[in-house]
Amino acid sequence: MRLPTALLLLTGGVLLDGVAATGDVPSPTEETEKITPKVFIVSMFTPEATVWWGISQFNLLAHNISLPGASPLFPNVHCTATHEICQLVTGEGEINAAVSMTSLAFSPLFNLTTTYFLLAGIGGINPQLGTIGGVTFARFAIQVALQREIDLRELPANFSTSYFPQGGDAPYEYPGKIYGTEVFELNDALRSWAVALARHATLDDSSAAREYRANYTTPDGVYAAGTREPSVVECDVATSDVYFSGKLLAESFGRTIDVWTNGTGRYCTTAQEDNASLEALVRAAAAGLVDFARVVVMRTGSDFDRPPPGVNALQHLVYNRQGGHGPAVRNIYQAGIEVVGGIVEGWDEVFGKGVQAGNYVGDILGSLGGEPDYGPA
Ligand SMILES: *[C@@H]1O[C@H](CO)[C@@H](O)[C@H](O)[C@H]1NC(C)=O
Ligand SMILES: *[C@@H]1O[C@H](CO)[C@@H](O)[C@H](O)[C@H]1NC(C)=O
Ligand SMILES: *[C@@H]1O[C@H](CO)[C@@H](O)[C@H](O)[C@H]1NC(C)=O
Ligand SMILES: *[C@@H]1O[C@H](CO)[C@@H](O)[C@H](O)[C@H]1NC(C)=O
Ligand SMILES: *[C@@H]1O[C@H](CO)[C@@H](O)[C@H](O)[C@H]1NC(C)=O
Ligand SMILES: *[C@@H]1O[C@H](CO)[C@@H](O)[C@H](O)[C@H]1NC(C)=O
Repeated sequence: MRLPTALLLLTGGVLLDGVAATGDVPSPTEETEKITPKVFIVSMFTPEATVWWGISQFNLLAHNISLPGASPLFPNVHCTATHEICQLVTGEGEINAAVSMTSLAFSPLFNLTTTYFLLAGIGGINPQLGTIGGVTFARFAIQVALQREIDLRELPANFSTSYFPQGGDAPYEYPGKIYGTEVFELNDALRSWAVALARHATLDDSSAAREYRANYTTPDGVYAAGTREPSVVECDVATSDVYFSGKLLAESFGRTIDVWTNGTGRYCTTAQEDNASLEALVRAAAAGLVDFARVVVMRTGSDFDRPPPGVNALQHLVYNRQGGHGPAVRNIYQAGIEVVGGIVEGWDEVFGKGVQAGNYVGDILGSLGGEPDYGPA
């Protein structure tokens, strides 16, 4: 879209020159048909975004559309020539994800009422359920660090971890105060579709990842999943701005997920955005702008959330070469292309009318109707 000549004339072509130079510029006065994509790929930063560019199936760089409210680092939404498939790059962390996704969902340029959202990024992986390079699809997203925290050196002797919930006075209590973004639940039937499609993919791996993974072999086999080759797994994602690592925090947040999902969630990945993106989508759904039952969260394992036995947490997080980043990024595409292609090709028979959810779909507050099967009830 270009600025209408009339508007350029009105402004003397001066005021908006800088903006016009950056690419397609939307105008609120322009009477154009809204862009109605079938699939919106949501990436968080450059490697997750560029893995979708230059591929054989479609060209996301056919249209670069400037989105008011987007991250200054990623100002354009990208779309294929037909606008059937588009991509948003949110920027990293909860604040960037929330604001970018809100800007997209409430943008007058798009009609997203029937659009599928594939939130597709890399993340830390729990070796109890998955491995580096592995691909996961979540039903629950949990904002695990939305809690109180006391530094270890000041911790009461009977606290088993530094984190304890808002409105609570001990670890692993049910939160006494709910902000509304603690837990999101997604369409489980749609997840089953996505998993079945993704299982057609041949997943990438690296020799460095294979070697590092072997370190997770233990006599009791507690990390057996971590030692296996990459595969597609159904398990849930923790969101936290803090990039945490280590056995104790990983176990602590895993237990938080148990409590907050009333025992249904299975913690396997950690990332910095999903809850924020989902909160924006819940609010847009409440405003009738998107269908929250059309959201898929896919995370690929780029690094283990805890060290192998006998390795200290800092060594593992900062110095060891795990070899998972490359395969994790490439598997966003390998698995994701099956999901995107499956939705577009199956549009007329299945996806256009939507996949009926068998489970509760929405946030902890029940904002979209229905009764959450978790939360304070
Ligand atoms: C869109 O932007 C990308 C880089 O971000 C560029 O490679 C591509 O040529 C642009 N497409 C158009 C149609 O200008
Ligand atoms: C949005 O797209 C849907 C599906 O194509 C259509 O039914 C609806 O009328 C559109 N709404 C607007 C406001 O364009
Ligand atoms: C810790 O000990 C204090 C004082 O005895 C007690 O009030 C509190 O409930 C205990 N907290 C936990 C988490 O056990
Ligand atoms: C993040 O989202 C997940 C599920 O989508 C939800 O369980 C969790 O509570 C959210 N966390 C925050 C802090 O919003
Ligand atoms: C872990 O794997 C690496 C190879 O990536 C190896 O060099 C290292 O010695 C292993 N560490 C342990 C404790 O097994
Ligand atoms: C979830 O667990 C909490 C704490 O045990 C409980 O108060 C609440 O009623 C449960 N929610 C549901 C929906 O069962």
